[in-house]
Amino acid sequence: MAATRIQDLPGAVGSAVTVAGWLTGSRSSGKIAFLQLRDGTGFVQAVVAKNDVDEATFETARTLGQESAVRVHGEVRADPRAPSGVELSVRSLDVVHASEGYPITPKEHGVEFLSEHRHLHLRHRAPWAILRVRDELERAVHDFFAERGFVRFDAPFFMPTAVEGTTNLFEIDLFDEAKAYLSQSGQLYAEAGAMALGAVYTMGPAFRAEKSKTRRHLLEFWMIEPEVAYLEHDGNVQLQIDLLAYLVGRVLEHRRTELDLLGRDVSKLEPTAHGGFPVLTYDRALELLAEDGEPLAWGEDFGAPHETLLGARFDRPVVIERWPTKAKAFYMEPVPGDPTRVLCDDVIAPEGYGELIGGSQRIHDLDLLERRIAEHGLPKEAFGWYLDLRRYGSVPHSGFGIGLERTLAWITGVHHLREVIPFPRTLTRMMP
Ligand code: 4AD
Ligand code: MG
Repeated sequence: MAATRIQDLPGAVGSAVTVAGWLTGSRSSGKIAFLQLRDGTGFVQAVVAKNDVDEATFETARTLGQESAVRVHGEVRADPRAPSGVELSVRSLDVVHASEGYPITPKEHGVEFLSEHRHLHLRHRAPWAILRVRDELERAVHDFFAERGFVRFDAPFFMPTAVEGTTNLFEIDLFDEAKAYLSQSGQLYAEAGAMALGAVYTMGPAFRAEKSKTRRHLLEFWMIEPEVAYLEHDGNVQLQIDLLAYLVGRVLEHRRTELDLLGRDVSKLEPTAHGGFPVLTYDRALELLAEDGEPLAWGEDFGAPHETLLGARFDRPVVIERWPTKAKAFYMEPVPGDPTRVLCDDVIAPEGYGELIGGSQRIHDLDLLERRIAEHGLPKEAFGWYLDLRRYGSVPHSGFGIGLERTLAWITGVHHLREVIPFPRTLTRMMP
């Protein structure tokens, strides 16, 4: 008999089914054994009554080790006490692989131990729920952009230059002693894509040699970067708001079970799904920070405490726009009539999750962009192709980058970014 997925069991009450999965735990008395099963699509309890099965089956059920692989045959019964509303009455079972000495036992384990055993920890409930939300989020990204006519555009990961400053670049030795860098951002290539295809987005890993250990930074993270020809700053901000509202709405609609399993208070997410984010200037944000007792000099970038305080003022993400030119990257378009500020924004999450999005309108004037590249001490030769985009049919254009792990950590309410990517890469961990 073909196996029935655990997620489909509620629709199969009264039927005889086979579940092909693994044993996450068990307990038994003299007459009955309770098996906790998972199959990747969900979790279910299987009940083995001594009177219903032959002696060998009962003995197997009683003694089988955690994470043994099993095919369980039985009948689906409604059980209002079960989280999924069903359980399985076992008739027989086949052991596919008996597992012994599985290291992650039901007792509490520390973060280090679980990180070392990440390849196995993925099987457990919290990682399972988080990775299913991640999948929904990635799919929602593609649907959002597809519905708006964007073209997916794949940027390279070996780069000749820096995009977001030179302090956190990973350098790679190429053949014949040439150097390359791992991509910090696909933006510059997405700009070429936007001039060819109108509206594009990239989705891929970005690499940053972040030397500080924080819960908000990974060495390798995933970023989605839309870029749109003829789009100006205000439209860019609206696109960011629409995207975040859509993503949160999709997860609330399709991954409620997983959020519940993680203990996420979904009332904290609901306002975001309605859009209408507050939009403040950087200057206004400084006033609020001073009120909150965390004053910052004009021109300084926010640190984690500033982001946390600003985020805590609102029930949905807040957009901080028009930053000081000197605080931001070389490619940002100045505010008309005010060269000290640029047409850019950061979106900051509530509940202490920090910056989710950074975006801007891009400089489209050739002379200004050349000057900025020189002022930032960037190698002019490496930017020849990028400057060509300003030589041939240059138009105003804008885009942004949204960090997948930051967004996912906030949506799932998980404290540390290492929990929301299958195999995190941090300053202290490359294994497994
Ligand atoms: O603000 P950032 O540096 O912006 C850019 O890279 C632009 N080129 C994007 C663009 O306009 N196309 O990074 C964008 C987002 C941040 O807001 C954050 O969510 C995430 O990327 N991010 C990180 N996530 C995890 N670990 C890190 N080390 C991150 N650095 C940035
Ligand atoms: Mg940023």
